[in-house]
Amino acid sequence: MNTPVEAWERYAAKASTRRAVNAAGASTWLNWTQHPDHGPDESILGEVRDKRVIELGCGAGANLAHLATLGAHCVGVDIVPGRVATATQTWGHLPNLEFVAADALEHLAAHPGHYDIVYSIFGAVWFTPPDTLLPLAWAALVPGGLLAFSHLPASGPPRADRVITKYDLTIDEWTATLSAHGFGRTTCEIIASPEAAADRRGTLLVRARRAS
Ligand SMILES: C[S@@+](CC[C@H](N)C(=O)[O-])C[C@H]1O[C@@H](n2cnc3c(N)ncnc32)[C@H](O)[C@@H]1O
Repeated sequence: MNTPVEAWERYAAKASTRRAVNAAGASTWLNWTQHPDHGPDESILGEVRDKRVIELGCGAGANLAHLATLGAHCVGVDIVPGRVATATQTWGHLPNLEFVAADALEHLAAHPGHYDIVYSIFGAVWFTPPDTLLPLAWAALVPGGLLAFSHLPASGPPRADRVITKYDLTIDEWTATLSAHGFGRTTCEIIASPEAAADRRGTLLVRARRAS
């Protein structure tokens, strides 16, 4: 049997551990791109102190831990229990930070009107059908709440023959799909890769607000 959870468990087994400190000497930080110390930081989320924040597909939890240090009330959801165990072991000492082993879609469905910010970094937003995810994210947000996510720029239509499907929509497709599901004030941008990087693909970064 080869389920998405098993595929993500294999991915996790090969994942490298994040550096103890970044180039600026910080022990926690948030990075939207696949390149270390590159691109915008958490400030694009606005003030996070006292906000209810969820990361969909949080992996080992390092990005979310940074938001907890800034005073956000954080929940990290990942479909792989082992990732949640690692995240809890590494960051569980921080206040206002909880990691949950669950499918992001099921967690959102169980928490209507609960979150100020829903975000995902190369996470569950990329791997779940937008027409399923977006209504659940909309309902889980408070009115005016923020949805933000990053993933690689579109490289072709979703391949349904794979265990894990990537829904890497284009900027135009995300803009239209978000609008159709009640999101507005949408910004989509491609963050260029660093000059010296071998990976030239850049990163798609999307932000949109629940309209009402
Ligand atoms: C490419 S990794 C990125 C992890 C983390 N966001 C980071 O930047 O290091 C994708 C993560 O999403 C999780 N994931 C995939 N589909 C999911 C789903 N439907 N619900 C919850 N987590 C999911 C995987 O288990 C994996 O940890």
